[in-house]
Amino acid sequence: MSPVSMLCFLLFHLLIPSPSQADGNITVGSSLTAKKDNSSWLSPSGDFAFGFRPLPTNLNNRGGVFLLSIWYNKIPSRTIVWFANGDRPAPENSKLELTSDLGLVLTDPRGERLWMSENIVGTVSHATINDTGNFLIFGSNLEKLWESFDDPVDRLLPSQTLGKNKFLSSRQSDGSFSRGKFQLRMLDSGDLVLNTINLPSSYANEPYYNSTRTARDSNMSSLGKEFVFDNSGSPFVLRENGDKVYLSQVKVPSASEFYHRITLNFDGVLTHYVNPKNSNSNGTWISLWSEPENICTALLTPRGSGVCGYNSICSLGGDNRPRCGCPDRYTLLDPNDEYGSCTPNFTLNCEEDEKKLKQGSMGDFYTFVELEHTGWPMSDYALLAPFSEDECRNSCLHDCMCAVAGFRDGKNCWKKKLPLSNGRVDPKLNGKILIKVPKRDLTITNDSQYPIPKGKIKHHDHRILILVGSMLLGASVSINFVLIGAITWGFLFVYCKKLKKISIEENVVGLNLRYFTYQELFEATDGLKEEIGRGSFGIVYKGLMSNNAAIAVKKLCSAMHSKEREFRTEVNAIGQTHHKNLVRLLGFCDEGHERLLVYEFLSNGTLSSLLFSGESKPSWIQRCHIASGIARGLLYLHEECPTQIIHCDIKPQNILLDDYHNARISDFGLAKLLKMNQSHTQTDIRGTRGYVAPEWFRNLPITVKVDVYSYGVLLLEIICCRSCLGTELSRESEGELLTDWAYDCFMHGRLDALVEGDTEGLSNRTNLKNLVMIAIWCIQEDPSLRPTMKKVTQMLEGAVEVPVPPCASRLNSSTSSFLHPN
Ligand SMILES: *[C@@H]1O[C@H](CO)[C@@H](O)[C@H](O)[C@H]1NC(C)=O
Ligand SMILES: *[C@@H]1O[C@H](CO)[C@@H](O)[C@H](O)[C@H]1NC(C)=O
Ligand SMILES: *[C@@H]1O[C@H](CO)[C@@H](O)[C@H](O)[C@H]1NC(C)=O
Ligand SMILES: *[C@@H]1O[C@H](CO)[C@@H](O)[C@H](O)[C@H]1NC(C)=O
Ligand SMILES: *[C@@H]1O[C@H](CO)[C@@H](O)[C@H](O)[C@H]1NC(C)=O
Ligand SMILES: *[C@@H]1O[C@H](CO)[C@@H](O)[C@H](O)[C@H]1NC(C)=O
Ligand SMILES: *[C@@H]1O[C@H](CO)[C@@H](O)[C@H](O)[C@H]1NC(C)=O
Ligand SMILES: *[C@@H]1O[C@H](CO)[C@@H](O)[C@H](O)[C@H]1NC(C)=O
Repeated sequence: MSPVSMLCFLLFHLLIPSPSQADGNITVGSSLTAKKDNSSWLSPSGDFAFGFRPLPTNLNNRGGVFLLSIWYNKIPSRTIVWFANGDRPAPENSKLELTSDLGLVLTDPRGERLWMSENIVGTVSHATINDTGNFLIFGSNLEKLWESFDDPVDRLLPSQTLGKNKFLSSRQSDGSFSRGKFQLRMLDSGDLVLNTINLPSSYANEPYYNSTRTARDSNMSSLGKEFVFDNSGSPFVLRENGDKVYLSQVKVPSASEFYHRITLNFDGVLTHYVNPKNSNSNGTWISLWSEPENICTALLTPRGSGVCGYNSICSLGGDNRPRCGCPDRYTLLDPNDEYGSCTPNFTLNCEEDEKKLKQGSMGDFYTFVELEHTGWPMSDYALLAPFSEDECRNSCLHDCMCAVAGFRDGKNCWKKKLPLSNGRVDPKLNGKILIKVPKRDLTITNDSQYPIPKGKIKHHDHRILILVGSMLLGASVSINFVLIGAITWGFLFVYCKKLKKISIEENVVGLNLRYFTYQELFEATDGLKEEIGRGSFGIVYKGLMSNNAAIAVKKLCSAMHSKEREFRTEVNAIGQTHHKNLVRLLGFCDEGHERLLVYEFLSNGTLSSLLFSGESKPSWIQRCHIASGIARGLLYLHEECPTQIIHCDIKPQNILLDDYHNARISDFGLAKLLKMNQSHTQTDIRGTRGYVAPEWFRNLPITVKVDVYSYGVLLLEIICCRSCLGTELSRESEGELLTDWAYDCFMHGRLDALVEGDTEGLSNRTNLKNLVMIAIWCIQEDPSLRPTMKKVTQMLEGAVEVPVPPCASRLNSSTSSFLHPN
């Protein structure tokens, strides 16, 4: 129950009128007035009351309206069991009178009739509210002229029956008394069924429950006659031959000790509730059984929206009741009606798509949100098969009619159009649903409103790779893999021409890697002359191949030895990676003590020099582009490449930039390749302090989440153009870690401080805030709270909302104390 409906609920029940008459015999001419305290007649035992109940104030009424109803008078919740004027609430001072010719008549203060007891034939003598909860009107010969049991709304009480062609009708919502779309009907054919109707008409859709079909005894020789809820509290279909077909095998508690009711809930589930009569009861209704077992999967109609509204998705709660929810980027049509329809927060428009196609590929404009075990089975307009998932995505991408694609059984591509109906979560559904949504380009949107985050990130983890011991925390800090300052670049340019060229041999290892001899590489690098970087794993030299292609040759530290076979296995794993955000390994050399790796050479230096060189910050757009490139590269290493690779040493010195300023991750795979198992000392940790996830300090397994942590730190650096090592922090934040400082700025709404003087960043405030929130998620101390790189890329692309990260006074107390020893 939402806080608002809870409030209404409480309000509703605080305004219970005090009963004013209790003799059980209501004479003609008696009346009730709709106001706070003159409003009810009681049954002889006092169990039930009949009269006016004030309705909770809501959007449709401004208070002061009443509902003519019968309720349990001894239960604290005063649950309503019957009501008359759900669609026409009575204004204050409306009057209910028992008349001799028409029975009960409800008129508003102006004299307009709001409701009356229908079909009274004869003269009324008196009426009574029975202890069963039935309101009866008698004629002068004590014959029944009318009873509320014959005019049920959404629930049945013991001793009440539902004859052929009679039905219960659900309410529209939890707090509403208007007619809803679900029905329990006793059909003429003798079947008791649950079905939806297409409001505002009463056209009935196919049943989603049929007592005849589910009856255990399948003796069809006799048809159903009526549905009986007998006075002992047992519900059954009574057949023409007198057989009773019980709706449930559950043992029913005694009707003398428990109140019973069977309610068709507003969400379509039929439930048998009981509530103990003794005074100790706290008034909570207990569910005995309900039908159907899973309404989300049971209800499927070609017409109508299904359990939830259109474009919504039904999932079953633990209480067997449905919950409805909009997919990402879809919002509720009526924000107050969770069970209603959703609309996309964007337009799918064929004319617009035509225009977009002229500006670029559709993939630049749309992306897909994926859902598993989910379906909208009635919304297909095309089936393409056999089709691969990529073909399916592409087909939907380029089809302006296509809102959603369902990819099933590894070969079937179902294209779906709006509005989507019968959305459900169904564990039996294989494959996935792909929801087409526009990319929220980080570089384009610049609305100043923050999006309202919804829900929490769900983590699907983890392929855990526990590294033997830990590694790479050693070695020098500031020296980069490929450090190319402007000056060295000039030098290199001169030297390159002198380098000897090596010939290409057909000595291929695995599929993609070339084997080089030491001699070849020695010559290609002109005798290991040009050192262009020095890192944790060795020294990098520039070289030139015989085809004039520049290469970077990394000579691995001779101290780090692994067995030849392992070395080749790992090198092969690295060689099998292909991603535009990774530095490509071209080949290697393994001769005795000489182990070298040969990479493509990247001309634009490291991210570290780009960000921190001090002169001018790279543009916001460029930084966003780099941030998402690194994220995609890491996602590939973690989830998409043939062998999962945990990088373990993500830092700006390990991100290189290619000719187009695409970010390229380097040094991946080396952590495992070099199987360093020295224990980590404090000195080691200082080596790459700042980027190191807290797991390293504790005895926790090292998972892909260590890279997510480092990525978070790196993302903050990209946002702020400041090193996490704190050398360049502004005065006010002196001595503070970048992570803590960024978090404080975020908490205090001081995003401007983070991008000090960066007008471009500030004008993209939403993106800025999103990026900061993503970074804070990534640097959560608890690895399980950190998102996967997949989630990170989705958040960066705008495919999912970025939730507000959890509060924490200080993010990484352990690491900060480490770095600030007193
Ligand atoms: C109720 O009132 C009617 C008419 O006034 C009378 O005939 C009847 O006996 C009364 N019944 C009881 C139980 O008092
Ligand atoms: C309610 O008020 C009306 C007049 O305002 C009165 O005739 C009637 O008897 C009252 N009913 C009860 C149950 O007190
Ligand atoms: C009123 O309820 C009692 C049980 O409380 C029942 O025995 C009696 O038959 C009911 N009267 C009518 C007219 O249904
Ligand atoms: C209910 O189920 C019975 C038995 O399967 C079937 O004969 C009947 O047609 C069904 N009723 C409806 C309305 O579908
Ligand atoms: C079905 O019901 C009929 C009549 O009620 C009865 O004669 C017959 O034996 C029953 N059949 C089965 C299989 O129970
Ligand atoms: C009322 O009591 C039932 C058990 O008797 C318990 O399960 C339920 O939580 C209680 N509800 C409240 C609101 O105290
Ligand atoms: C959807 O649109 C509404 C209004 O245009 C906006 O308030 C909301 O934040 C948007 N939600 C998403 C997920 O874009
Ligand atoms: C983006 O922001 C600029 C000012 O910073 C404003 O002029 C422009 O209208 C905005 N564009 C959109 C699409 O909101």
